[in-house]
Amino acid sequence: MKVIVTKSKEMMSINAAHILASKIMEYPHLVLGLATGSTPLCTYHELIKMYNNGILDFSRVTTFNLDEYVGLDDSSPYSYRFYMQKEFFDYININQKKINIPYGIAEDLTEETKRYEKAIKKAGGIDVQLLGIGRNGHIGFNEPKSNFETLTHVVELDKQTIEDNARFFDSRQQVPRKAISMGIKTIMNSRKVILLASGENKAEAVKKMIYGKIDPNLQASVLQLHPDVTVILDKEAASQLKYTEENWII
Ligand code: F6R
Repeated sequence: MKVIVTKSKEMMSINAAHILASKIMEYPHLVLGLATGSTPLCTYHELIKMYNNGILDFSRVTTFNLDEYVGLDDSSPYSYRFYMQKEFFDYININQKKINIPYGIAEDLTEETKRYEKAIKKAGGIDVQLLGIGRNGHIGFNEPKSNFETLTHVVELDKQTIEDNARFFDSRQQVPRKAISMGIKTIMNSRKVILLASGENKAEAVKKMIYGKIDPNLQASVLQLHPDVTVILDKEAASQLKYTEENWII
């Protein structure tokens, strides 16, 4: 694992955007795995800025989002599809047909999970997967104790995830109890992983992910086994790590 500690959430986001941009410039047909939530927001906004400045072309990029809530359709302002359009896709020249997000209101959810895996395979696999991390160490919506061998599947959201994500809804009751999520195996199959974390409330999960034992109770710990992971943190999320400021903070 390569760990980059930055001074601020803004610098974390700029760093992540630069890595993603360099990959898109190198491989215009990049297959990009994307996350939602508050952590990657500014990264998306940085990428939009680069697009507006004529630096980036998304026309041949394919995207696969990590997850979507079960029961919310694309027009729901709480759905991840809505988030992605509003925060990123509506402002870049991505081909809408190359955007992939699990369909949360599919009649047959199991079929939908299989369809999603097939689509990833057909696209040639994920080149770069962007991740956030939950306070309980989840990546995607792979909650504590999930099997490391799972592909895209339907998940029951953890109590803590429901609590944490209630901030995006009008009330806790509105938070869906289920989601479709890429599995740990899907994430581990991607060629490169970039995990972002900011804020003190992520510090413990980050510490366990990096120094802890590989343990299904802290799902992100499995990333220790991935050959190409870059973790980009702000200094609050890195506050429980040992590092020398002169060398690590940028
Ligand atoms: C989002 C996702 C989740 C989030 C995690 C952190 O698509 O899969 O794993 O990355 O819950 O969420 P934030 O960034 O809101 O703290």
